[in-house]
Amino acid sequence: MFKKVLVTAALLALPLSVAHASDDVPDGKKIYQNNCASCHGMDGTVSKFGKDLKPFAARNHPAMSQVVSRDEMRRIITYGVRGTGMRAKKYDLEPLEIEAVIDYIKTFDYKPNLANGKKRFEQVCSSCHAMNGRGGTGLGAANLVYSKLNLKEIVHTLRHGRSGTLMTANEHQLSNPDINDVAHYVLSLRYQANLGNGKKLYAKHCQSCHSSPSKIKLIGNAARQTKLADLSDQLLDLRIRHGRHVKRAGKDVEKLSSDEVRDLMAYIRKQ
Ligand code: HEC
Ligand code: HEC
Ligand code: HEC
Repeated sequence: MFKKVLVTAALLALPLSVAHASDDVPDGKKIYQNNCASCHGMDGTVSKFGKDLKPFAARNHPAMSQVVSRDEMRRIITYGVRGTGMRAKKYDLEPLEIEAVIDYIKTFDYKPNLANGKKRFEQVCSSCHAMNGRGGTGLGAANLVYSKLNLKEIVHTLRHGRSGTLMTANEHQLSNPDINDVAHYVLSLRYQANLGNGKKLYAKHCQSCHSSPSKIKLIGNAARQTKLADLSDQLLDLRIRHGRHVKRAGKDVEKLSSDEVRDLMAYIRKQ
C-alpha cells in the first residue's frame, strides 16, 4: 500500500517537474532572435539595419563574446548604452532571460585575424606605442611587449582607455572584429623570457659578487619590508640597471639590454 502511494507520487511528480524545467529556463536563442537580431543580426554579425544606426552602428557579438566579461555584457544589456540605439532591456526582459541571452551570445565563435590586427595596430596605435609595441615615443605609452595583461584585460583597456592618460577609449574608433584582432596581435608581441640565457648572463655578470640569486640583498628603506621576489618587474629592472647598485656592480650591468634583463629576472625569480 505504502509502495503504491510512492509510485503514484512519483508518476505524478514526473510530468510536473518536466513542465517546471522548461518554464524555468528561458530559451536564450529565441529571446535573441525576437529582441536583438533586428539590429545585431541572426548570427550576431550585425544586420543591414543595425549597420546604418546613428550615431553608432550595432556591434558584432561573435568578436566580443569571449573577450568581454559577463558582468559588462549584463550591464550593457540591462541598462543600455546612453545616446545609442542600444536601449535598456530591463523593462522587456527578466534578469534570468538576460542571463540566458548572454549564454546564447557566448555560443558565438570568432577566429582572430592577426594580419588585420597588425595592420590596424600600425595605423591606430603605433604613433604612441611604436611600430614594435615597445613604446618609448615620449608619450608615456606602455611597453606592450612587457605588459602583464591577459587578453580580456587588453580588450578592456582598448574599449575603455585609461582615464587621465593619452590612452583613450577605442570602442568607437575600432569595430569589435578590429579590437579582437588587435588584442590578439598585442598578445602575440609579448616577450617570452629565455631562462637558459638568464642563467648564462647571471654566471657572466653577477655570480662573482652574488654567489646565487637567493643571496642578493636589497638595500635602502624598502629592504626592511620587501623581499626581492616581491618587487615588480619594473622595480627590479630599475634596481639592476640604475641607481646605487650600478656604482658597485659596474657599468657592465647598466649596459644589459632590456630583453637581457627580462631573461635575468626570469632566472632570478625561478631560484
Ligand atoms: C535597435 C537596435 C538594437 C537592438 C534591438 C539591440 N541592440 Fe544591442 N546594440 C545596439 C547598438 C547601436 C549598440 C552599440 C552601442 C555603442 O555604440 O556602444 C549595441 C551594443 C550592444 C552590446 C555591447 C557590444 C559592445 O561590443 O560594446 C551588447 C552586449 C548588446 N548590444 C546586446 C544586445 C542584446 C542582448 C539585445 C537583445 C536583448 C540587443 N543588444 C538589442 C543596438 C541594438
Ligand atoms: C595617443 C597615444 C596612444 C595611442 C594612440 C594608443 N595608446 Fe595605448 N597607451 C597609451 C598610454 C599613455 C598608456 C599608459 C597608460 C597608463 O599609464 O596607465 C597606454 C596603455 C596601453 C595598454 C595597457 C598596457 C599595460 O600593460 O598596462 C594597452 C594594452 C594599450 N595601451 C594598447 C593600445 C592599443 C592596442 C592601441 C591602438 C588601438 C593603443 N594602445 C593606442 C597611449 C596610447
Ligand atoms: C662587483 C660586484 C657586483 C656585481 C658584479 C653585481 N652586483 Fe648586485 N650588488 C652588489 C652589491 C655590493 C650590492 C649592494 C647590496 C649588498 O651589499 O649586498 C648589490 C645589490 C644588488 C641588488 C639590490 C639592489 C637594490 O637597489 O636594492 C640587486 C637586485 C642586484 N645586486 C642584482 C645584481 C644582478 C642581477 C647582477 C648581475 C647582472 C649583479 N647584481 C651584479 C654587487 C654586485
